Amino acid sequence: MKYLSLKSISKVYSNVAGQDAWILDNINLELEHGDILALLGSSGCGKTTLLRLITGLERLDNGSVFLNDEDITQLPTHKRHFGMMFQDFALFPHKTVYENIAFGLEINELFSGNKKRIADRVEEVLSLVNLSHTANRYIQDLSGGEKQRIALARTLAPKPKLILLDEPLGSLDRALREELMFELRDILKLTQMTAIFVTHDQTEAFSIADKIAVMDKGKIVQINEGRTLYFKPKNKKVAAFLGFKNLFDTMVDKKHQVKTPFGTIDINPKTFLSGEKVTALIRPESAKLIGEKAPIQLGQLLIKGILTSVTFLGGYYQIRILLDSGEKLYFKFQNQVNLPETNSEIFIVIEKKDIEIIHQ
Ligand SMILES: Nc1ncnc2c1ncn2[C@@H]1O[C@H](COP(=O)(O)OP(=O)(O)O)[C@@H](O)[C@H]1O
Ligand SMILES: [Mg+2]
Repeated sequence: MKYLSLKSISKVYSNVAGQDAWILDNINLELEHGDILALLGSSGCGKTTLLRLITGLERLDNGSVFLNDEDITQLPTHKRHFGMMFQDFALFPHKTVYENIAFGLEINELFSGNKKRIADRVEEVLSLVNLSHTANRYIQDLSGGEKQRIALARTLAPKPKLILLDEPLGSLDRALREELMFELRDILKLTQMTAIFVTHDQTEAFSIADKIAVMDKGKIVQINEGRTLYFKPKNKKVAAFLGFKNLFDTMVDKKHQVKTPFGTIDINPKTFLSGEKVTALIRPESAKLIGEKAPIQLGQLLIKGILTSVTFLGGYYQIRILLDSGEKLYFKFQNQVNLPETNSEIFIVIEKKDIEIIHQ
């Protein structure tokens, strides 16, 4: 039995011209209890709308929502006992940390009217986010990172059945975001919360989530755990969204081969039809630097080009190679390798098996 199921959810809005536009189109999703799911997609693809439909803040035009096998599609928001956290945190700036967290508990049927119980729970969630010492401080006097953790504590306090976070780290600077990504995951796992969070940042999705749903224009294109998504992106759009740059459009020929600017690759006839348009994907970490005269092994492809750019990125170099065909390739190398001078020839090999052929 799945904990949360979304079945064929659709939502239509009227645009400015008064025409109906599909904002969400046949969304199907299942989560086990304790799963953390990331909704990953560019701005405007429907992520916030999907969260609002799940909470019942927005009415859906088609489909149903099940929690623990109970159809909750028509259940009002306040009876669902879900917790929602927004990008701007929506805390009361002139109230104290304690008052902010207690506020939600005072109107919650598990806690309301029981001051001791409320105080214990506030202390419990504050210690969970490591901010017990801030109970009597005003929200307006806290740093961005502290506000984020208080907003999370407030969302967790009533023990919601499902937690929905809309770009929870979106307003924080990069260093803080990286620190809080791990903390957020630890806290959700520790409390065994089932959570859905929205992001447009793939690093955030990879760091926090068990599963990632890539969304595009109101549809879920692929749901998988991060590793599968990275190694088996379903199509070019997903690959581009994950940040892959080495993408080459080509076609499957009658011999079940595809031609690329760096050689011909055999492909599995079961997965692609001849004549089908496909894209060859080369991962940036798959290249090995070799000498000009070094022998090429079976299953390898030699790539010869001009090294046009080298960027030092701390732990690794990012390089760009210009091929004779005019195509550009991008690779990452560990910073121990001795790269040739910029604007001179470079020779690298890649394993044919590291070239992924995907749908366009
Ligand atoms: N209340 C509304 N009325 C009409 N269109 C809306 C409304 N809310 C959102 N939209 C449209 O729905 C689309 C998805 O919006 P949203 O869910 O906020 O995307 P995201 O959170 O992924 O950035 C956008 O094109 C947006 O303009
Ligand atoms: Mg949004």
